Amino acid sequence: MPRLHLFEFEDFAWFPTQIRNYGTDFLQFVSNKFNLYKGIAPVLAQAVKQSGKTQIIDLASGGGGGLLTVAKTLKEEIPELKITLTDYYPNISAFEAAVEQGGEMYAYEPNSVNALDVPAKLDGFRTQFLSFHHFRPQQAQQILQNAVDRKAPIAIFEAQDRIPTDFLKNLLSPVTVLLVTPFIRPFKLGRIIFTYLIPIVPLFVMWDGVVSVLRTYRVKEMQAMVEKLEGAEGYQWDIDKNKDGPTLILYLIGIPE
Ligand SMILES: C[S@@+](CC[C@H](N)C(=O)[O-])C[C@H]1O[C@@H](n2cnc3c(N)ncnc32)[C@H](O)[C@@H]1O
Repeated sequence: MPRLHLFEFEDFAWFPTQIRNYGTDFLQFVSNKFNLYKGIAPVLAQAVKQSGKTQIIDLASGGGGGLLTVAKTLKEEIPELKITLTDYYPNISAFEAAVEQGGEMYAYEPNSVNALDVPAKLDGFRTQFLSFHHFRPQQAQQILQNAVDRKAPIAIFEAQDRIPTDFLKNLLSPVTVLLVTPFIRPFKLGRIIFTYLIPIVPLFVMWDGVVSVLRTYRVKEMQAMVEKLEGAEGYQWDIDKNKDGPTLILYLIGIPE
């Protein structure tokens, strides 16, 4: 399938924060409930250990995403690990919930953080879950270049590939939204209203999910990006697919040597 960069509602500044947050809360719930990133948890733990960092800067965190479960494995391997959640459109109530449940391992940045130009004060091992596809090729390249310029280790994960089966899975996502919404915490009346009475949430989750598949960078495309980076030779790169968990995960990991 050719890569198509269609719009996602989530990316529009005018899109209501409340509805965007219901979407990222849903992704967080599903990623953790089904432990989507189980297969890559040991891979990430090994990469963080190798980098020598004990601070993760999670970019484009949304509602916290699958990192919240992966973090339990990471914590076993790296007890002193700290995680800072950030986003261009921070989902503050989800960030607060992560801090409440995860204790002092978590912190969050309340101000907008652009993954294209991470503030110098946010120093650590950069992670991105389910968000690299949000960026056009030149921006995706910029994300990697920004990490290399700052000598920051970086790990990017996508829980979908640009393939017809993942396209179809996302077409069916409204069914999942309708089934799991009552279990998403914190309980919010608006979530129920905009899911069942005025079903904006299932429809926008479906559209953004289908478009995400069409925007996903395949392994070869990520490899080509790395080849174009200035300073890539000072890094150790691992760009591949992982099938050890419940779903296929595409990943790119770069660690300064
Ligand atoms: C599909 S959500 C994924 C959220 C979360 N990481 C997860 O796994 O559920 C994509 C996220 O990217 C964020 N985003 C989009 N553009 C961004 C940018 N330029 N810088 C940082 N975050 C951005 C959105 O606000 C949204 O929260």
